[in-house]
Amino acid sequence: MKKTLVAPSILSTDFAFLGNTLTIINKSAADWLHVDIMDGLFVPNLSFGMPILKAIQQYTSKPVELHLMIVQPERYLETFARFQIQQITVHAEACLHLHRVVQQIKELGCKAGVALNPHTPIDCLEYIIQELDMVCLMSVNPGFGGQRFMLQILDKIRQVKALIKTKKCAALIEVDGGINKTNGGEVVRAGADAVVVGSSIFDSDNPREAIRHLKEL
Ligand code: DX5
Ligand code: ZN
Repeated sequence: MKKTLVAPSILSTDFAFLGNTLTIINKSAADWLHVDIMDGLFVPNLSFGMPILKAIQQYTSKPVELHLMIVQPERYLETFARFQIQQITVHAEACLHLHRVVQQIKELGCKAGVALNPHTPIDCLEYIIQELDMVCLMSVNPGFGGQRFMLQILDKIRQVKALIKTKKCAALIEVDGGINKTNGGEVVRAGADAVVVGSSIFDSDNPREAIRHLKEL
């Protein structure tokens, strides 16, 4: 049976022990590392920038996905791509020229993902989904870890799955926010290929084991 792709989000970890956390993730079954970059404008929070990203790149053996919660992400794409990033995910709401930004990400040699806030309709994907490696559906309002999963996103996952089928394209569906081993099964049954999980992994006594369980969703 196809296993669920699991991307741990390091946002809710203790940054004083970032090296230890990355070692745990390196030894785990995680498929890639989900790194949340926030600018205090697009979302009401700041996370981290280039120095931390540099440290992450030195210690991780997993591919890195950057989830850019920043306005006009095109300003930083080139700089981010220098950190050997596998995928850059930008928010549709943050890009005036989304198609151009997606092309720029691909020209830099990275996979391209587009994230949608919980309230954003999926119409904006119709003419771009064929260009995407991934659609990231936010199941919380972005900006903070540890929030509650929004149940209405289950229907949105089904709608995006149907759109992918209609368009005959290969984009994966990633769902981000409030996912745990209790609600994760429903997320996968609705059509998610990948789950981003922060608190539920890092609040547990055994993050490696938590990741292994999530793979079986
Ligand atoms: C929220 C971030 C998420 C978050 C997920 O804005 O995009 O990636 O860290 O963490 P949990 O699983 O705690 O909701
Ligand atoms: Zn995220």
